Amino acid sequence: MTRAWQRLQGRSLLRDTDLDPEEYLSLLELAEELRDEKRQRVERQRLTGRSIALIFEKTSTRTRSAFEVAAYDQGAHVTYMGPGETQLGHKETIRDTARVLSRMYDGIEFRGFAHADVEELSAGASVPVWNGLTDQWHPTQLLADIMTIGDHARKPLSDVTLCYIGDARNNTANSLLVVASMLGLDVRVVAPEGLLPSESVQATARDLADASGARVLVTSDIDAGVAHADFLYTDVWVSMGEPMEKWGERITQLLTYQVNSELLTRTGNPDVRVLHCLPALHNADTELGAQLATTYGVSALEVTDDVFESDASLVFEQAENRLHTIKALMVASLTGE
Ligand code: CP
Ligand code: NVA
Repeated sequence: MTRAWQRLQGRSLLRDTDLDPEEYLSLLELAEELRDEKRQRVERQRLTGRSIALIFEKTSTRTRSAFEVAAYDQGAHVTYMGPGETQLGHKETIRDTARVLSRMYDGIEFRGFAHADVEELSAGASVPVWNGLTDQWHPTQLLADIMTIGDHARKPLSDVTLCYIGDARNNTANSLLVVASMLGLDVRVVAPEGLLPSESVQATARDLADASGARVLVTSDIDAGVAHADFLYTDVWVSMGEPMEKWGERITQLLTYQVNSELLTRTGNPDVRVLHCLPALHNADTELGAQLATTYGVSALEVTDDVFESDASLVFEQAENRLHTIKALMVASLTGE
């Protein structure tokens, strides 16, 4: 029996909508199978002898680790090229880099700034390219998020209410809105004016919702947005690549949109669960957290420490699922079997 994820062989994942809903859900099924194999210590290696290039123009903990461990688990090798460590952009065009790496590697992961860069890399490459985050999209993140939601929802995805709250025009929010719209969820995106998704991302979501039956609400009204949410999702208020000076303005705009215990109560759902792609600024125990605490007098940003550490929080399951979903993506793109 052929399965929808097998259609991914030789294909790239640059944005979430490169997969159709059937392929998306099928890939998540493969991820579950791979997770089971690993947990039972019976993992079959499908990528023996393959080589994967990992290019990171921004820093990473989860995405890098997930690609590396997934590759090792499956018998493949990786080369990590961190920020500033390649000729890319300085002495060599993206297209030339793509052609060189395609002669040596079977697949290329790329984390960068402008989304056009990963598209250019993919256009020049003759092997699959996986977007490990750009300023506009974070497709490998959403695979793990939907897997985590599926693990906990106890109902079909079409009955799930997923609410993203915070800086809603960043990569994670864009990917969340289009994926949830494509898969037929009740999706709400809540942010103040100026931090809502672009018109074009909203239009894509509406088109996808027309086809899937998803309900889409984009609003600045917190109570309308969070009402009856099964899952509340937030992300950092200033993303990688944005200037530090943004923090003051964002804190003013977003403090009322913080995920805290009062916001959980406002959902009206005592079982609401909390999601975050991480890293999260939930206390002042990091260099940046301490700096923001001193400058702006805030001890937590997008999510409070008590909520982050509570039983409602699924953030570390999400992080683990990055491994299983990225592994499924590489297996599907590289083998189709
Ligand atoms: N969630 C995520 O992409 O984390 P990293 O930046 O650590 O890869
Ligand atoms: N929006 C965040 C996601 C980090 C995984 C950023 O781009 O910094």
